[in-house]
Amino acid sequence: MLKRIGVITSGGDSPGMNPAIRSIVRTGISLGIEVVGIQNGYQGIFDREFMTLGTVEVSGRIRDAGTILSTSRCLKFKEKAAQLEAIEILKKENIQALLVLGGDGSLAGANALAGHGYRVIGLPCSIDNDLPGTEMSIGTDSCLNTVLHLIDMIKATAASHNRCFIIEVMGRNHGYLALMSAIASGSQVAVIPEFRYDMEKIIDNLTRRRLRRHNNSVVVVAEGVCTGQQFMDRLNAAAGDRLEQEVRLTVLGHVQRGGSPSFADRFLASRMGEFAVLALNQGEHGCMVGLIRNRMHLTDLKEIQGHRPPLPADAIRLARNLGMEIGVPTET
Ligand code: ADP
Ligand code: F6P
Repeated sequence: MLKRIGVITSGGDSPGMNPAIRSIVRTGISLGIEVVGIQNGYQGIFDREFMTLGTVEVSGRIRDAGTILSTSRCLKFKEKAAQLEAIEILKKENIQALLVLGGDGSLAGANALAGHGYRVIGLPCSIDNDLPGTEMSIGTDSCLNTVLHLIDMIKATAASHNRCFIIEVMGRNHGYLALMSAIASGSQVAVIPEFRYDMEKIIDNLTRRRLRRHNNSVVVVAEGVCTGQQFMDRLNAAAGDRLEQEVRLTVLGHVQRGGSPSFADRFLASRMGEFAVLALNQGEHGCMVGLIRNRMHLTDLKEIQGHRPPLPADAIRLARNLGMEIGVPTET
């Protein structure tokens, strides 16, 4: 019988962590399970920062990005001795199982706990959408909406000044954010880690657009390829005066993790939080909750280690058919 479980948020925060915590707490209350919030990711276990969460603690936070539990990067948790020590502390606190909200690093930590026999379920929380076992991670949709909003704003000034804007977006080594935001913002080029870009084709695309009398263009560069500054320098060096447009750079940075969680993220986080508690209560553990074909799904934590999902093939086709320049897969 599950009586007391813990919840942590770890690694980079993502919009939707709070709705997930809220859902976990409220589902716990419905099932008669006490939910203990642990502050500051894995570090909070060693610092014994435990606090029982009730409806009051999560009230009004569904609309807030970030995490009410705070998060951290706890390097010592990568060591086996620290993981075993954490399990001892959790057991002493009568915390029978742990829900880990985070990205691939945090879920590697969850997998380590599971490997030592501790009950754990992970929830994919990352703006990067770089986890296998789910079509969407919590936070990605909100981040994309923020990026779109910012590119829309930049386009106004790009058009007024007849400029080409380089927009550097996050995503770590994954091109999902760059590709999807480029498609939905009507950008001309996406530079992504999975594909090799051809600078001459990019210049050609931008030049043809200029000749069709468009007064702005946008190139979305994923941080996993290079910095926006490096890309802009390479573009300027290769194009010379062929673009007939000033090139400017905007690095979106951490605003991409802010804002208020979108409907899609609030709903996804609520579903995943509920499902994780139900699954734990039914004896499931050692897995991550995912969304596959609009249904909740469990994938063994071992299976998600070291893997990254491919970019959606239909999005790649769509980008090309819309006339975007995205390069060719690096393995060809
Ligand atoms: P994210 O979860 O957003 O990918 P990180 O990669 O920084 O963020 O990982 C967050 C935390 O997860 C790390 O600081 C560490 O505490 C834990 N972690 C990361 N990788 C491992 C690992 N291989 N084994 C155990 N714990 C890990
Ligand atoms: O994983 C989320 C993410 O925002 C990545 O897109 C980015 O590379 C990284 O975290 C930034 O990490 P930090 O907040 O430590 O600068």
